Amino acid sequence: MFEILEKERIGPGVHRAVISAPEIARAHHPGQFIILRTHEDGERIPLTVADKDFDKGTITLVWQEVGVTTYYMGTMCVGDKLQDLCGPLGKPTHIEKFGTVVGIGGGIGVAPLYPITKGMHDAGNHVITIVGARTQGLLIMTEDMKKISDETLIATDDGSFGIHGFVTQVLQGIINKGTKIDLCVAIGPVPMMKAVVNVTRKADVRTVVSLNPIMVDGTGMCGACRVEVGGKTLFGCVDGPEFDGLEVDFDLLMKRLSMYKGPELIALNNFRETPRGCQCALPGGA
Ligand code: FES
Repeated sequence: MFEILEKERIGPGVHRAVISAPEIARAHHPGQFIILRTHEDGERIPLTVADKDFDKGTITLVWQEVGVTTYYMGTMCVGDKLQDLCGPLGKPTHIEKFGTVVGIGGGIGVAPLYPITKGMHDAGNHVITIVGARTQGLLIMTEDMKKISDETLIATDDGSFGIHGFVTQVLQGIINKGTKIDLCVAIGPVPMMKAVVNVTRKADVRTVVSLNPIMVDGTGMCGACRVEVGGKTLFGCVDGPEFDGLEVDFDLLMKRLSMYKGPELIALNNFRETPRGCQCALPGGA
């Protein structure tokens, strides 16, 4: 159970793995996440399920190396097993035929956006996807997104690939052209989601964001994942992870996310001093 069946690096510090998890694959809906532990003493980390295969009983996880556990997972290989996988957790995305849906994925946020985009496309929406990253090397899953989108626009902050600019500028361009957007779904770094909402608020576009607060149990018991939405305190794990972006207090979320930066850095530096495991090569030998 929870064996890694496939694994590849899809970008610098970004990995994709197919995991055997038949029960989760059977029950999962777009927008939901899992919490995993790599080993008995490991920390619990939440990851959104990027894809699933009902018939094969597998789920796909995509993660970026940011902390001890995600770095450790980067050193795991095909055949290794994860200790626990708990899920699916959180509320599924509300999917229906809205009309025109704009999906915006920034950096690693493209991975959780993928199943939502797929669901929106399958429901008959006209899907416009904006995929963004700081630079070309950090773009992920662009070909996957093209397959499930009616239009795909790619942007890099430094202009090294696609449109030169931020995803918000691309979104503003779509709005300026007079396109009627019925729903916008934005997933990525908190400042990006905040910036997207600043654009959609002015254009009166309903906007859903998927939040990534610090989580521990993922079932509504510890309160670590508190977020403020519309002046109310809600739990990211059981009330979300998706919320009305126009109502989210992004500044508070950013403050809470940085609370453990110091200890996280110390733990990561200690971990990095210990060489371990295999490192799957980047496609092309990079
Ligand atoms: S992670 Fe504990 S209440 Fe949400």
